[in-house]
Amino acid sequence: MAQKAIGILTSGGDCPGLNAAIRGVGKAVRGAFDNQIIGFRDGFRGMVENRIVRLDNMALSGILTLGGTILGTSREKPHMMPVGGRTMDMTDVAVDTYHRHHLDVLVCLGGGGTQKNAYRLQKKGLNIITLPKTIDNDVWGTDVTFGFDTAMGIAAEAIDRLHTTAESHHRVIVVEIMGHNAGWLTLGAGIAGGADVILIPEIPYDIESVADAVLGRSRAGKRFSIIAMAEGALSAEQVEAQKEAEKKKKKKGKKASPEPHMLPAEAASVHLARQLQEMTGLDARVTALGHLQRGGVPSPTDRLLATRLGTTCAELIEKEKYGVMVAVKGEKCKPVPLADVAGKLKLVPPDHAWVKSARFVGTCFGD
Ligand code: F6P
Repeated sequence: MAQKAIGILTSGGDCPGLNAAIRGVGKAVRGAFDNQIIGFRDGFRGMVENRIVRLDNMALSGILTLGGTILGTSREKPHMMPVGGRTMDMTDVAVDTYHRHHLDVLVCLGGGGTQKNAYRLQKKGLNIITLPKTIDNDVWGTDVTFGFDTAMGIAAEAIDRLHTTAESHHRVIVVEIMGHNAGWLTLGAGIAGGADVILIPEIPYDIESVADAVLGRSRAGKRFSIIAMAEGALSAEQVEAQKEAEKKKKKKGKKASPEPHMLPAEAASVHLARQLQEMTGLDARVTALGHLQRGGVPSPTDRLLATRLGTTCAELIEKEKYGVMVAVKGEKCKPVPLADVAGKLKLVPPDHAWVKSARFVGTCFGD
């Protein structure tokens, strides 16, 4: 088969395992299939600006265990890119770059937003393959995303460490965990770390129920509590207020905000701690883990997963199977149509097996 030219970029928030995936794709397309590969810097921005990195053997070597992305990343979208103080549709420029390098396929590593942006380019006639990455684990169509395992390990370790100080001071500690509008990271880390209360966006909470759980522990002789709270978690009241606000906006013909959960998130954990301190009489503190969860060395599980997804991507390129995301389905890495993935989110079903397990060991979800 004729040699192919491959472009690759990383887009959206970084996460551990991106370099392992770049290496997996790069080594396999070059070594096993004798193709050429170039990288674009800083996501779609680099593609629009034609900023490339040659991914030769040297560039692909020694990066398996490296956090972040050697290509750099950004959250920029080709169809809405800030240029000289204005927001412009630069899709055609990205398409030109693809053709200028005579690419046969563009590989995009990213989360939900990237899947959507990559699909937009596919609709412009480009051959696209995507890989699912994000600490949030919320990409539709795949059992799991790389980056999630590492972040869950970091958050679980933080909960472990917070246990000893919470217990010594008889405090309530609210640990704020990332995840955007999905609760996977908080749920996984919360169960693994033995959090007493887990609050996730998919299960609106009632403050009375959370306070009852904390007081119940005090009565049982446990004078401390750890609350794992997702950055997007909302009380039932807040959910109602948000629905009302959206209804009003729609009536007025305004577009409802696309990410209504994000704005009050940080304040929400502080607010929760203050409420619990008042209601329980226990001293309360907040620890927001923030970007710590995205940094550093990927776990062996993420290195393995990213390598498997990357090398499967190379096999799909060889077969010219484009327009797909490489997904994890059970034991296998399989292509799923990008058209099916774009624009969807994988949230925690409130009756998910993990939620059920947590309830069995006495975890409170505040509902
Ligand atoms: O999508 C990954 C993620 O870390 C989310 O969990 C979080 O809400 C968001 O990115 C933070 O974005 P930024 O790094 O742009 O602040």
